[in-house]
Amino acid sequence: YTVELDASDISKGTYANYMLKEIDEQPVVMRKISSHYFDGKDIKIDEKMLEDVANADRLYIVAAGTSYHAGLVGKDIFENLTDVPVDVELASEFGYHMPKLSKKPFFIFLSQSGETADSRQVLVKVNELGHHSLTMTNVPNSTLSREATYTMELLAGPEIAVASTKAYTAQIAVESVLAKAVGEYKGVKLAQEFDLQGQLALAANAIQTIVEEKDRFKKIAHDYLANSRDAFYIGRGIDYALSLEASLKLKEISYIHAEGFAAGELKHGTISLIEKDVPVFAYVNDGVGAAHTRGNIQEVEARGGHVLVISSKKYAEDGDQVVLPAVDEMISPIVSVVPAQLIAYYAALERGNDVDKPRNLAKSVTVE
Ligand code: G6P
Repeated sequence: YTVELDASDISKGTYANYMLKEIDEQPVVMRKISSHYFDGKDIKIDEKMLEDVANADRLYIVAAGTSYHAGLVGKDIFENLTDVPVDVELASEFGYHMPKLSKKPFFIFLSQSGETADSRQVLVKVNELGHHSLTMTNVPNSTLSREATYTMELLAGPEIAVASTKAYTAQIAVESVLAKAVGEYKGVKLAQEFDLQGQLALAANAIQTIVEEKDRFKKIAHDYLANSRDAFYIGRGIDYALSLEASLKLKEISYIHAEGFAAGELKHGTISLIEKDVPVFAYVNDGVGAAHTRGNIQEVEARGGHVLVISSKKYAEDGDQVVLPAVDEMISPIVSVVPAQLIAYYAALERGNDVDKPRNLAKSVTVE
C-alpha cells in the first residue's frame, strides 16, 4: 500500500517545527470534517455501518494514548446522542483482560496511525469472535483500517509531530458525526436537535481565536511552569476526560511531571501534593460540576497552589483565567484542549526540548 501525500501537507512551511503547524491546522480540519461528512443537513456515512452501530447494545471504544483520551470524550457524546452505553478501554489492557462482553457489542477502534500493535491485537481477537468493528483513523489504508469491518477517515492530514494534537480534535469531531447519525437513525431527540455543523463551525472559529493568542500562552507557560517539577490539570465530567489529555501533552514534550485529576478526588488523597506555587490548571466547562470545581479551586488556592482557570465562563481575574469562546459542552474539549497544547509546546520549547521528537517516544508503536 502506498500513502499519497501532498508535499504541502508534509512540509513545515514557515514553521520551526511540525507541532505548532499541526496545532494551527485544527480550524481547517474541523471545517474539512464538516464539509466531508455533511451533505446539506444529511450525514453521509455507510448505511450498513449505521445499522450495525444502531443495533448494538453496547459500544466498546478501544485505543491507546491520546486516542484513548479522545475515546473518553466520545463516551459522553455517544451516550448522549445514541442512548447506547459505552465502555472505553485501553487496548494494552483490554486484549489480555477482556471483560464479559455484552450480547451485541460493536467495537470502535480509534487510531491516528492505524498501526498501533496494542489496538491491533484486540481487533484480531474481535474478528475471531465474529464481532463487527469500525476503525476511525487518519490513514485509511492502514492495518487497522483494512482489518476492521468499517472505516471512517479523520481527515486531519499527515500528523508528523509525535505528540498528537489535530488527530485528537479530529477524533472527537468524527465521533460526533457518527453519534449524531446513529442517534438520528434511532430517533433520539437530542441527536435530531444537535446542530453539529453549527458547533463544528463555532469550534473552528474558537480554535482560531486561541491560536492567534500564542504570546499569551508562551507567557503562561513561562509564568506557571518555568521552575516547576510538577503540574496538575483538574476538572469534572468532560473536563476530567480533557485533563487526562492536557496532562499527557505536558508530560510527553516538556518532561514535567503532570497529572490529570478528577477535581472531586483531590480531597481523597491527591491534595496532599498541593503546596506553595504548584501549578494547577483548572477546567470549568462542565455545567453540572462547575460549582463544586470552584470549591476545589478554592481549596487548592488556600494551600498556595498557582491556579489558572480555563473556562468559557468568567470565574477569575484576567491574569488568572483563560476565557474560552463558548461551544456546546459535549464537544468543548475540541476547543479547551488547545490552550493545553500551546502551554505544553511553549514549556517544552523553553526547556530546549525537541518538541517534535520527544525522548523515548515514537509516533506509531508497532510492538505490544
Ligand atoms: C503512540 C504515540 C501517541 C499516540 C499512541 C496511539 O504512543 O506517541 O501520540 O496517541 O501511540 O497511537 P494511534 O496511532 O493508535 O492513535
